[in-house]
Amino acid sequence: MTHPNSSFDPKAFRRALGLFATGVTIVTTRAADGTPVGITANSFNSVSLQPPMVLWSLAKNARSLASFSECGYWNVHILSNEQEALSNRFARAGEDKFAGMALDQSANGVALIPDCTARFQCRNAFQYEGGDHIIFVGEVIEYDASQRPPLLYVTGNYALAARKAAPISTETQADPGAAVYSENLLGYLLGRAHYQFLDKLRRPLAERGLTEADFFVLSVLIVSQPLTIEQIAAHVAYTGIDIGAVALQPLLTRGLLEPDAQNPQALRLSPAGSDAILHVLAAAKAVEADLIDRIGEMEAASLRNLLKQAISATDPGLPKLWQAAKE
Ligand SMILES: Cc1cc2nc3c(=O)[nH]c(=O)nc-3n(C[C@H](O)[C@H](O)[C@H](O)COP(=O)(O)O)c2cc1C
Repeated sequence: MTHPNSSFDPKAFRRALGLFATGVTIVTTRAADGTPVGITANSFNSVSLQPPMVLWSLAKNARSLASFSECGYWNVHILSNEQEALSNRFARAGEDKFAGMALDQSANGVALIPDCTARFQCRNAFQYEGGDHIIFVGEVIEYDASQRPPLLYVTGNYALAARKAAPISTETQADPGAAVYSENLLGYLLGRAHYQFLDKLRRPLAERGLTEADFFVLSVLIVSQPLTIEQIAAHVAYTGIDIGAVALQPLLTRGLLEPDAQNPQALRLSPAGSDAILHVLAAAKAVEADLIDRIGEMEAASLRNLLKQAISATDPGLPKLWQAAKE
């Protein structure tokens, strides 16, 4: 059958369809010989609440087509933001997709992948022709859901979800300054978020007689040590604070830092220094937990992702602190 619009440019058509943001799922079943089968699919959707039904579609050229067409049950796994590697693994034909994976027990005998955002165990109820795909409709027999932020897929890329924020205040259009300096200015948003977050750390820092510069130095060393003064200065340079021997002297005098036994040019935290920074970092963790409580896990994951993008896009070429720590 020829369709009136089969002249669509396939790439452009795919791109247009890719503008519809979806989650990412892995659908699993059992082959006739009992081996587990699974594929990554973002064509998943809800169909009916009563009875509970869902659907997804499978390309007719998929190697798993026969298994899904003939099976009695399949399970849909909504992937979490930490399961991108699993999505890629199940999107590649050929390899043993389940190799080395721990699986949960399922009532229907079909592979059930752990640590997902949500899972739906389904009876293979109906199949429909859908052009070059087969549409599978399943009746949901059991399901479970967690708080894990879901992985999304849009414009051919993995993405994270976040609710849209309400405006901080109502902008006054009449003010000419509002065009240049508005509540949407990224510098304002980053700066304000930073200061409001740091504000809660000022007390624990003051209690230990630590300045913001001390805090940066000690927190660099808790990740990677020993470091020379130059190395510490390079890691902290993004703050605009100039760390040198003079700045570090009070920390040495107070016994919070000490020269490394093997390399006296390099410094490390003393037990008292470790104790002090761990105390402040525990306070930072508590502020973070409170923030996540208020904005939600999904938004926190999204915020981390966007901040990492902003940091990488504006990185003046700082040494990689965490990478250095792993080496
Ligand atoms: C994010 C994402 C979504 C996908 N969605 C679908 C889908 O809905 N249906 C489909 O047939 N293939 C989809 N694929 C491609 C299949 O996962 C891929 O072709 C897989 O290798 C098929 O496995 P099989 O050939 O072993 O059956 C998707 C791939 C990715 C990365």
